[in-house]
Amino acid sequence: MIEFESVSKTFAGGTHAVQDLSLTIPSDKITVIVGPSGCGKTTTLRMVNRMLEPSSGRITWDGSPLKSRRKTTLRRQMGYVIQSGGLFPHRTVLENIGTVPGLLGWGKDKTRKRSLELLSNVGLDRAMADRYPAQLSGGQQQRVGVARALAADPLVMLMDEPFSAVDPVVRAELHEFFLGLQREISKTIVLITHDIDEAIKLGDQVAILRVGGRLAQAGPPQELLDEPADAFVEGFVGRDRGYRSLSFLPAAGLSLDEVAVVREATSGPGEGPTLVLDGDARPVGWVDEGRPGLVHPMGATFVRESDNLRAALDSALTSPYALAVAIDPETGRYAGVVPADAILAQVTTQRSGSPESVTLQAAEAREQQSTEAQAAVTSAYAQLDDAAEGDVTDGPARDEPAGTQPSGEPADEARTTTDEPAVVQELGPGGATAADIEAAPDAGRDETREDEAPAGEAPADETPATETPVDETPASQPSEDEQPTSVRGVPVVDEPTAEPPRSAIYTQPRSLPDEPRKLR
Ligand SMILES: Nc1ncnc2c1ncn2[C@@H]1O[C@H](COP(=O)(O)OP(=O)(O)OP(=O)(O)O)[C@@H](O)[C@H]1O
Ligand SMILES: [Mg+2]
Repeated sequence: MIEFESVSKTFAGGTHAVQDLSLTIPSDKITVIVGPSGCGKTTTLRMVNRMLEPSSGRITWDGSPLKSRRKTTLRRQMGYVIQSGGLFPHRTVLENIGTVPGLLGWGKDKTRKRSLELLSNVGLDRAMADRYPAQLSGGQQQRVGVARALAADPLVMLMDEPFSAVDPVVRAELHEFFLGLQREISKTIVLITHDIDEAIKLGDQVAILRVGGRLAQAGPPQELLDEPADAFVEGFVGRDRGYRSLSFLPAAGLSLDEVAVVREATSGPGEGPTLVLDGDARPVGWVDEGRPGLVHPMGATFVRESDNLRAALDSALTSPYALAVAIDPETGRYAGVVPADAILAQVTTQRSGSPESVTLQAAEAREQQSTEAQAAVTSAYAQLDDAAEGDVTDGPARDEPAGTQPSGEPADEARTTTDEPAVVQELGPGGATAADIEAAPDAGRDETREDEAPAGEAPADETPATETPVDETPASQPSEDEQPTSVRGVPVVDEPTAEPPRSAIYTQPRSLPDEPRKLR
């Protein structure tokens, strides 16, 4: 647990970047700090790895003051993803990622293997390994920064807007990777973002700062949405907070209905909603009743097993018939539909029920889902087969036992995950982190932006007036004891993972089920 106790930070010139901040950052959880530009988020983060020292107040880690810990040791235990990348411009992508393992004296092969693994994990092509940062887009540079911070498996991750420069699809992939990794290895993470949606999705705890670095409210995301402390928080979480709060209600309790399905919208206008599926039974759109032969493109779909009611309602709202379309998490195949009013009824049920009964309800629903979803898909196949034989497309479902695959259909694409390599294993307290980058002999030479320059030792009697120039000086000549001397708990990676799929918005929306499994 990292604890801020009445911490303030005033810079030379009198800027009060952080004022009287008291905040507990629980171990093994994700704490997200959000707030408007200039409210002191980066300053707060940099006080955690002692790149900056508080002007007053104190910060403790597991009970002992940060001040009592050696900076270099501290930084080896804390990976740091610098706002806007902060890569070494004269090192290749792979060399950047392998910086800390290199400092720790890992062998060349092991460092390369680990770096390639992480490159793949953050969704970058292997061909980028030998490029220099200037040859990457901003979003690609950010991902290299995330990989670099993860390289030596730190105890704490400090992440300053790590996903701000990537597009929404890649960002969603990185979120899944990040959450999957966190489920696996449970680190203490402090993540900064401007994006309240990202905060709600990733944070176990969200802290909202107002300008001047004052804490407006901290708590679980649902609490912030349901009970904003004041108008500032209410404004920050947005006017649609009721809709956002649906993110916390599981879709698992929804019952799936059936709808007529066809393979091609060649026929005339049907009677009622008719869904068009592709050759693999994945939904591609709706038969457009007004324009025979045309397909109304598929809006959002959802996965009942893992999505929430926000995703389900969004799916219904993007359908011309207000029907949410559920897909199978493994195959992306059509699984059934849910009317918007049934989703709203579920919202009422879940909100009025106790958390326990909702959880129980969701668990019971999950029990039935596999069979039910399979039956819906089987039914869809039956209708398609009927259609292929020239029958009506919305006829009654063929009565097949659950689990039956229609002949001639592709085999189930479910993957097993048991033989997949662990990405990261725990490092002992002596492990190095990307913060060692700051202690690297050539870090000062490579670093170009003063505000992200490596930290040197601050004088004991540091005051706000003298802090900036001293504390921000690159450690171009680290002392003997700053050099890493041991290698412990080296992460073991057997096989690099394959390059993840990129853009399957309609066939594998939202959950991108293949990607997180590969990474765990
Ligand atoms: N080294 C410095 N010297 C003087 N003032 C600084 C320094 N670093 C930051 N500040 C000021 O402190 C305040 C908080 O800055 P900080 O970088 O922590 O904000 P932020 O919340 O991270 O903003 P953003 O969202 O734009 O990244 C700002 O007014 C900034 O100008
Ligand atoms: Mg910042």
